[in-house]
Order: sequence, then structure tokens, then C-alpha cells
Amino acid sequence: MNRVKIAPSILSCNFLKLEEEIKKAEEAGADLFHIDVMDGHFVPNITIGPMFVEQIKKVTSKPLDVHLMIENPDRFIIDFIEAGADIVTIHIETDKHILRTIEVIKSKGVKAGVTLNPATPLITIEHTIDKIDLLLIMTVNPGFGGQTYIDAMDEKIKKARQIIDASGRHIELEVDGGIKATNAKKVVQSGADILVMGTEIFHSGDYRKKIKEIRSIIKSIIKD
Ligand code: DX5
Ligand code: ZN
Repeated sequence: MNRVKIAPSILSCNFLKLEEEIKKAEEAGADLFHIDVMDGHFVPNITIGPMFVEQIKKVTSKPLDVHLMIENPDRFIIDFIEAGADIVTIHIETDKHILRTIEVIKSKGVKAGVTLNPATPLITIEHTIDKIDLLLIMTVNPGFGGQTYIDAMDEKIKKARQIIDASGRHIELEVDGGIKATNAKKVVQSGADILVMGTEIFHSGDYRKKIKEIRSIIKSIIKD
């Protein structure tokens, strides 16, 4: 099993103290930062654009994992890559020519991810498996932090893990939405390698303690 990574989602941090929040989370043991980009069309919320990513890049050496919840993502991917994205993840529901978009992302030396809303079946990404670096399973309907994990996603994560293993390729399996210390064990046992956590970390009051708690849960599984 790969080492499981913890990706704090900055959506839940205090934006007035963004630099401090990122540095604190990095010092507390974050492996990468998850950045949620929302356009008010694909999802019912609006967040940040490439200028923000550029600023974040200046204050952390950790990889930036940019989750695009926007219509016409191909229109913006170069902007996000130039701003410093290390991973760009696109929703299968938003892109009519996803293989072309994946090629563009990879041609810039950046990791390409695809993601699916909870109700979108895994079969839709079947023909991207030989190209992608990351598969993101949404475990809530995207748009907001602080929602509850959808239990039906347990099976989807397991199936995604089987598809990845069968491909023989190195594809990271990321889960996003409602991930907490209390369900970290089951999602890692189901096959997740990257845990996105917004409220669980940034609303915890003690990021170091929270990340340590999550790591000890994960460690106990790997030893099982
Ligand atoms: C939801 C976003 C998530 C969000 C997760 O649309 O994609 O990344 O920040 O937040 P929590 O961990 O609070 O569910
Ligand atoms: Zn996200």
C-alpha cells in the first residue's frame, strides 16, 4: 500500500489569515494542499481563481492539488498550471473532450486527475484510465465544505481501487467530502491514498494534533 497522504482543503481555512493557515497546516504535517475552484455554474458556490493559486504557491513548498468545479475547464487549465498547480483535476461531467484536456495538462508536466460526482458511475472514466495520474471520488455533492460523507461511496471507492489495481498503472485514489478521523479508517481500507479534509483540519483548533490523530489511525490499519 502507498503511504496515505493528507490534503487539507483550504476552503475551510480562515481566508483573512491564508498565509498563516497554510504554514501552520504544512508544519502540522500536510502532504499537499487541496484547492477548490468553483464557478457558480457547475456548483452552487463561487470561490477562487488562478491569482489566488499564484499567491498560495509563494508560501508553501507542498504540491498544490487544484480541483476544478467549473464549466469549460479547458478554458482555464493553462492559467491554473501557470499559477503553480501541481495536480489539476477535472470533473468528467464538465468536459466534452476530456482526453484532449488530459493531454494538455500532461503536456505541461503537471499531473492530470479526473473526478466524478457521487451519482456519476465509474464506467464514465473507463477510457481515461490509461492516461490519468489521479482519480478523485467525490464523497459529497460538490459545492461546500462541512457536508456529511455519503455512505454509498464506500462501494464506489472499493470499485475504483479494483479498477486502478487492474490497470497496473500508478494512479492515486483521492477522496473528498466529509472525510474525518472517524471515517478515515474505512476509506483507507476501501483503497483511498489521498484524504482531502477541510473542516476536520481547519476547524479543529490544533492542526498538529488532528493530523497526528489521523496518521495514527491510518498506521494502525496498515499494520493490520
Ligand atoms: C467540496 C469540496 C471539498 C471540501 C471538503 O465541494 O470539493 O474539497 O473542501 O470539505 P470537508 O472536508 O469539510 O467536507
Ligand atoms: Zn475538493
